[in-house]
Amino acid sequence: MSGKRWSGRFSKATHKSVEQFTSSVDVDRELWREDIDASIAHARMLGDQGIIPKEAAARIIEGLGEVGAEIEAGRFQWRDDLEDVHGNIEGRLAQLIGAETAGRLHTGRSRNDQVATDLRLWLKRRLPGVRESIARLQRSLMVRAEEQVDTVLPGYTHLQRAQPVTLAHHLLAYFEMLQRDQVRFASCLESVDELPLGSGALAGAPYPLDRRAVADELGFARVSANSLDAVSDRDFVIDVQAASATCMMHLSRLAEEIVLWTTSEFGFALLDDAYATGSSLMPQKKNPDVAELVRGRSGRVYGNLTAILTTMKGLPLSYNRDLQEDKAGLFDSLHTLTSCLEAMTGMIETITFDAARTEAAASDPTLLATDFADYLVQRGAPFEEAHGIVGRLVRLAEDSERSLTELSLDELRGVSSLFDEDVLCISAESSVESRSLPGGTGADSVRTQLERARQLLGEA
Ligand code: ARG
Repeated sequence: MSGKRWSGRFSKATHKSVEQFTSSVDVDRELWREDIDASIAHARMLGDQGIIPKEAAARIIEGLGEVGAEIEAGRFQWRDDLEDVHGNIEGRLAQLIGAETAGRLHTGRSRNDQVATDLRLWLKRRLPGVRESIARLQRSLMVRAEEQVDTVLPGYTHLQRAQPVTLAHHLLAYFEMLQRDQVRFASCLESVDELPLGSGALAGAPYPLDRRAVADELGFARVSANSLDAVSDRDFVIDVQAASATCMMHLSRLAEEIVLWTTSEFGFALLDDAYATGSSLMPQKKNPDVAELVRGRSGRVYGNLTAILTTMKGLPLSYNRDLQEDKAGLFDSLHTLTSCLEAMTGMIETITFDAARTEAAASDPTLLATDFADYLVQRGAPFEEAHGIVGRLVRLAEDSERSLTELSLDELRGVSSLFDEDVLCISAESSVESRSLPGGTGADSVRTQLERARQLLGEA
């Protein structure tokens, strides 16, 4: 029975196709460093507690260091027949230090608590990098917003021109979305921060394991409270998948704006040549493929979230092999998210805005209809009534193929005597400036938002 581990109760080797079918080493070898670190912590604790001889613990720790060095140097032979990263590392350890000593490492431990520990440790180490990538995109949005405090463009609802806003305000809306992503990933870091090791296969372990010492060596805040839950809980994977999906949704929305803004129809922005691609057929084309791919890849990450939720939903306690399916999607989501964040950061850093085009679009007088109504309210009209008056004015202007601002003061007064000469000063700029309350699009509010952004990025 070549290669078969835990073979005592079997009379046959596993069929080659079953070996390949059940093997996860192609995916979970990603966890090798965490697997070695967690094994070292476990071995040290076993030795310190007198559960295995101290010399055995020392040889195991030394051997694991050697295995790690081999993997790092690319000299390690990964084997399908050893099933997973754990089997591969222990198999090699046995070759290096002898099966008898190596065999003591698995005392009081199962692959069920081991894999949950490795994955949590891997996330503890990777999630800060994701948060840094989010922060880099936030920073690029903040820097570009600082240049655009006075640039006006139409704000939209229903993708219909609605009211003038500043470009800085628009860009900072994405900063805020990403700030919520930061909070979500910080909370993911809390949910992964728990040590399952010591839960055994499902019921705990009959040895005086010092779980707190292992948690301390690996940097975990808590040890799990219930062994059945600990070996079968993947909520932390779902949390990360959900946070990734939400962040991808934000990136996809920003990508969609870039796609729209760079059309000839909008013309609000121009992509840097380094972030645009050509067409194999149409020589004039400059395509926003990077933005489109970010938008498209949100689908993959949503798929990964749906996959893990579906994998989990019918599982009885405790460990089931279905759980092995948790990793491929998780690694894929984090890789996809990080590469999308990086591409988006480069695109935002290099995109140029066409203020002449945004301002021309923002000078569409229909955008000022609300300001006309607000003007009447400031002169005592109830808002409903003001809304009706301006509605009539819009129709009057349309009927004579003019815009709202082309109506004469006499015509305005014909509909409401509340209009005075100063109504003629209403403009996109005055509209924006009048909205400087906290959260508004006016320059004072935008400067406050920029200060908040600097503070959140730790640059204030
Ligand atoms: N490769 C497995 C996983 O990722 C490790 C745990 C296997 N445990 C077991 N009882 N077969 O979940």
